[in-house]
Amino acid sequence: MSLAQKHILLGISGGIAAYKTATLARLLSKAGATVKVVMTKGGQAFITPLTFQALTGEPVLTELLDPEHEAAMGHIELARWADLIVIAPASANVIARLASGRADDLLTTLCLASDSPLALAPAMNQQMWSQATTTDNIASLKERGVMMFGPAEGDQACGDVGLGRMREPQDLFTDIENHFNTGVLAGQKVLVTAGPTREPIDPVRFLTNRSSGKMGFAVARAAVEAGATVTLVAGPVHQDTPRSVKRINVETAEEMYQAVMTEAQDSDIFIATAAVGDYRIANKKDHKIKKTDGKLHLDLELNKDILASVAQLDAGPFTVGFAAETRDMEHYARDKLVRKKLDMIAANPVGNGKGFDQPDNSLHVYWPDGEQEFPVMHKGKLARHLIDTIAQIKAS
Ligand SMILES: Cc1cc2nc3c(=O)[nH]c(=O)nc-3n(C[C@H](O)[C@H](O)[C@H](O)COP(=O)(O)O)c2cc1C
Repeated sequence: MSLAQKHILLGISGGIAAYKTATLARLLSKAGATVKVVMTKGGQAFITPLTFQALTGEPVLTELLDPEHEAAMGHIELARWADLIVIAPASANVIARLASGRADDLLTTLCLASDSPLALAPAMNQQMWSQATTTDNIASLKERGVMMFGPAEGDQACGDVGLGRMREPQDLFTDIENHFNTGVLAGQKVLVTAGPTREPIDPVRFLTNRSSGKMGFAVARAAVEAGATVTLVAGPVHQDTPRSVKRINVETAEEMYQAVMTEAQDSDIFIATAAVGDYRIANKKDHKIKKTDGKLHLDLELNKDILASVAQLDAGPFTVGFAAETRDMEHYARDKLVRKKLDMIAANPVGNGKGFDQPDNSLHVYWPDGEQEFPVMHKGKLARHLIDTIAQIKAS
């Protein structure tokens, strides 16, 4: 599974294994992840920030109270940015600081300020690892959902042999890949629509909307990670096709309707994130309309309702709609859920700088007998939450 477009915050604390993390950073960057490295003071005693800056192409962050960094990307923003935080090596000291909820440097503050999954790759002398204090700290972090990648057993830099070595970089890379590969939709066929549609006015002009396709492409990517076979019907957008996705490019709402109806019958899940134009131009011109002094009238006629058409299919897929609303979100979303006979609807606020073309958004998901709210977060993360919720509700 590719890590393309994943945001990984790589923490490096003061352990002798820190030099091996350079290889991990390289593997992650090569796999397409954006890697931002945060180093403790201890970490910098073992390997320089410059090494990681060169390997990741990103500035390395070391200071909490750094006005320049706060102006560029504040620590809270960085905490939200991460899809995953991995600390490798995780020293006994950083483990103790995390277990006690301290926020006395940039790395521990980020961990405390983040709701992103956190994974530690412990690395220390076998005696330090087996101390009761370390054992208690690890147990309490695990109980709070922190993942442990390792440690491994074997020869140690200090000459001891035992448990406490950091897992090898390639193994940590696999752990990270496995984390993103949830498998909740294994064997299922998922059809996703994304982006806007374009309704031609004449050969050079069209009617469209602000959708960038970011959310739909993130949903397609998350569905692949969850083990699904994914077809993505995309309007005109500037987005890279996620790996393993079959992409069908369309322009108008009618083209999107045709593509979706061909694919839907054979799909288990349909997720309609596209912002389909409700209307097309009835009096479309074959030649460029010339400017005149008078008013120009465009007649609009309704496009077919793709979402409702799929929801009406006999033995059709589990159908998830999107409702982009500027006000009364719950009211309009619930109404659309019932009126169009959907299995689920994901409502998101748009307008006033929210939603369209933004990297982050929030979602409120409704289904006939339940609901779930996801606060503002990166669309990649939001898409994974949505896929998990769909898998759960579909299976219930
Ligand atoms: C040569 C040397 C090697 C060390 N290796 C480790 C280690 O592998 N794991 C560990 O937990 N601490 C190790 N330490 C101790 C940590 O560097 C020390 O606890 C430091 O305060 C950790 O700070 P940090 O957790 O904020 O990075 C080592 C210290 C020295 C001098």
